[in-house]
Amino acid sequence: MVKICCIGAGYVGGPTMAVIALKCPKILVTVVDISISRITAWNSDQLPIYEPGLDEVVKQCRGKNLFFSTDVEKHVSEADIIFVSVNTPTKTRGLGAGKAPELTYWESAARMIANVSTSNKIVVEKSTVPVKTAEAVERILTFNSSNISYQILSNPEFLAEGTAIQDLLNPDRVLIGGRETPDGQKAVQALKDVYSHWVPEDRIITTNLWSAELSKLAANAFLAQRISSVNAMSALCEATGANVSQVSNAVGKDTRIGPKFLNASVGFGGSCFQKDILNLVYICECNGLTEVAKYWEQVIKVNDYQKNRFVNRVVSSMFNTVSGKKIAILGFAFKKDTGDTRETPAIDVCRGLLGDKAWLSIYDPQVAEDQIKKDLSMNKFDWDHPVHLQPSNTAAVNQVSIVGDAYEATKDAHGICILTEWDEFKTLDFQKIFDNMKKPAFVFDGRNIVNVKKLREIGFIVYSIGKPLDPWLKDTPAVTRDK
Ligand code: UDX
Ligand code: UDX
Ligand code: ADP
Repeated sequence: MVKICCIGAGYVGGPTMAVIALKCPKILVTVVDISISRITAWNSDQLPIYEPGLDEVVKQCRGKNLFFSTDVEKHVSEADIIFVSVNTPTKTRGLGAGKAPELTYWESAARMIANVSTSNKIVVEKSTVPVKTAEAVERILTFNSSNISYQILSNPEFLAEGTAIQDLLNPDRVLIGGRETPDGQKAVQALKDVYSHWVPEDRIITTNLWSAELSKLAANAFLAQRISSVNAMSALCEATGANVSQVSNAVGKDTRIGPKFLNASVGFGGSCFQKDILNLVYICECNGLTEVAKYWEQVIKVNDYQKNRFVNRVVSSMFNTVSGKKIAILGFAFKKDTGDTRETPAIDVCRGLLGDKAWLSIYDPQVAEDQIKKDLSMNKFDWDHPVHLQPSNTAAVNQVSIVGDAYEATKDAHGICILTEWDEFKTLDFQKIFDNMKKPAFVFDGRNIVNVKKLREIGFIVYSIGKPLDPWLKDTPAVTRDK
């Protein structure tokens, strides 16, 4: 029986291994993590991450060929194939601070593998890492153990949160990079054999190691670039009276462009896009490719601009001050159908409003109160560590209350900011909400989900990203503020 061990039971490792176990009943899959609480949760009825369809898959396999354990060394030593899916936070100090990924956790995983291995291993990079990490890992492994052969593969994961199970069951492609030597190709084939249980042959792409590593960064950079492109257009639409949804629709009909991923928003979030682009920028800079680095960096700058622009719009619309005003925040997760808040645009928007002394009442159907408070008081980039760093700025959260539903959040509020496109926000009783708000009542829709016409008929003053402006807002152009 082939034995797979995955180091890191997070958003990537957990769902990916669950689907491998589901589709390969003859493979024994163990997911290990240093976090006792995470592993305890994976072994309980309350899984540590919210992901549609995940519970069913885990229930079907757990205890049969899918196991979760904190005994990292034992399972690594017994495995034939080891996936590594540990954190790669952005460095906050030293060389490459603010851009380069911190590979401490990767390196410690590699050294541990070298220490405990007594048989040949295939080591698979699952978490996104800089190009040429595989080479570094290979060196650590081979210099630290003799008589054991290691093959390193890069098998980046393309799943998106909220649709992870569907993405894993029916992937656009599976990418496997390996050494172009006979042993390297044998390892590629071994991993291909795993995926072949359910993925059609023509969707399994094999490349060299560096191409696979770079493809992951490139795919995320292209996706993020589409959002920054449409968000840049949204600013121009507001200035000219065009409607960004109509523009997106018209542009997306061109089959060379395609209709997906063209929704204007308050900004993209998630653990990957910003981190991977910063990583790409850093690699370009290290290779002396200044213009290429600047090109990709602009994608992040436009994203920051979009979040900042949204805050400016809120403040300038409300008579240039939100001081002491209650503002309802609907949605805190970085997108719908996930409880994940990593790099969510809600953090920057809330911080901006708190900086202007607003009182926030926040509701999200999946994000816990302590997570929101932690996010609002954490330093940039500190979230991505296995042992979470302590919050450093707790003062801001004194102006925040977290509530249990949208009606409570909006009661007596001056304005509403919709920051996540949860389906339940589309069917709210806005007449009831309006009746219970201070007047004039404002809605700022950062996800373009409300019916603008209907809300204006009720009496709201409505701002929706990239849509023709309410006459009220036209007279109050967003002023440029210092960050
Ligand atoms: C992304 C990639 O899609 C996935 O392939 C990769 O493996 C990990 O990174 P994820 O971050 O989970 O996945 O979600 P995604 O659906 O890509 O959304 C990222 C952000 O972009 C979200 O904040 C989302 O709201 C935003 N977005 C997405 C838009 O603002 N507009 C869009 O049209 C699409
Ligand atoms: C373009 C648009 O495609 C068309 O919709 C619009 O109406 C007019 O402008 P055109 O300039 O005729 O059409 O040719 P196009 O095929 O778009 O190519 C433009 C340039 O991009 C060419 O120099 C082409 O060689 C280059 N190109 C195109 C690339 O370098 N790589 C590609 O993948 C595609
Ligand atoms: P991703 O979204 O890439 O899956 P997560 O942060 O959700 O990232 O998951 C990474 C997991 O890796 C965390 O649960 C963390 O505890 C675990 N981890 C980090 N370093 C190690 C290590 N050396 N050994 C085992 N697990 C680790």
